[in-house]
Amino acid sequence: MILVLNGPNLRRLGTREPDVYGAETFEDLAELCRDTGRKLGHHVEVRQTDDEAELIAWLHEAADGRIPVVLNPAAFTHYSYAVRDAIAQRTAPLVEVHISNPAAREEFRHNSVVAGVATGTIAGFGLQSYVLALQAIAEMTTTS
Ligand code: DQA
Repeated sequence: MILVLNGPNLRRLGTREPDVYGAETFEDLAELCRDTGRKLGHHVEVRQTDDEAELIAWLHEAADGRIPVVLNPAAFTHYSYAVRDAIAQRTAPLVEVHISNPAAREEFRHNSVVAGVATGTIAGFGLQSYVLALQAIAEMTTTS
């Protein structure tokens, strides 16, 4: 089992700034992740929330269950020490992903307060960032 967790505004994929995030919807993303999981032999569960407390609760659930995580923290990436502290408790690999390349965008997106406690970061490959992250986790874990 791999959890794919998404932070604020990501449910609006397809409508939200399509020039930056593409035309595909959140449901397209969820299907892509589940399909990638099936190919890799892992059950993948995809979630999204605009709520910091809910995201933190999911990170606690992953830590308690030793569940690997693909996480797009969205804007929380740049300022949420609470999300960072939740990730720091992880007990399995956690890959930070971004659809866009924040390093090539506005200055405030250049810093990730969560990168230092993630296993690694994949950014800038569109929805493919999630596929690459799932592949990385599948390589790192032997059981599903
Ligand atoms: C994002 C990049 C963040 O800077 C932004 O706040 C998002 C999406 C991405 O996937 O490219 O909401 O995480």
